[in-house]
Amino acid sequence: MKIHVVEDYRQLSLKAATLVAGQVNMKPNAVLGLATGSTPEGMYSELVRLFHAGAVDFSEVVTFNLDEYVGLDSSHPQSYHYYMHHHLFNHVNIPAGNIHIPSGNAADMAAFCREYDQKIAAAGGIDLQILGIGVNGHIGFNEPGESLSVGTHLIELSRETIEANSRFFDSADEVPRQAVTMGMGSIMKARRILLLASGKSKAKAIRETVCGRVTPQVPASFLQLHRRAILIVDREAASLL
Ligand code: F6R
Repeated sequence: MKIHVVEDYRQLSLKAATLVAGQVNMKPNAVLGLATGSTPEGMYSELVRLFHAGAVDFSEVVTFNLDEYVGLDSSHPQSYHYYMHHHLFNHVNIPAGNIHIPSGNAADMAAFCREYDQKIAAAGGIDLQILGIGVNGHIGFNEPGESLSVGTHLIELSRETIEANSRFFDSADEVPRQAVTMGMGSIMKARRILLLASGKSKAKAIRETVCGRVTPQVPASFLQLHRRAILIVDREAASLL
């Protein structure tokens, strides 16, 4: 695990965007695994800036998003479909057919999850997987528990996650109770992983990820076993290291 501690959120966003743009410049048809949430917003806005400045071209890039809430329409402002179009896809030149986001409304969820994993494999696997981290150590929506799932699957969101994500909704009652997420196996198979964390609220999860035991109680701790995992954390998120 390589850990970069940067001063603040802006530095984190710039460093992350530089790394993603570098990946795409090195391999124009790179397969990117993408995350949503507050943390990568600054990175996406910097990538949009780099694109408009002619510093990166996404025309051959293929993307797979980590997760989506169950039950929200893709036009819902809190859906991850909406988020991705709003922050990135509407502003860069990734072909629509190259974009993959799990559906939270598939009639046959098991079949959908299987197909999602098959599409990742058919694309050649993920070159660079971007991750945020939950206050409870989740990555994607792989929540702490007794065991972790390998492939894309349906999950029940934990109480902590519902509470943490209620800031995006009018109340905690409106936060969906379920989500579809890529599994730990799919994440760990990525050739490179970039985990971003900002702010004091993530400090404990970052300490457990870096210094704790590898345990399904802290899904991000499995990144200790990945050969090319990079963490970019700001001072506050690194404050308990
Ligand atoms: C989102 C995702 C989640 C978030 C995590 C942190 O696609 O997979 O694991 O990365 O919940 O969210 P923020 O960045 O909002 O603190």
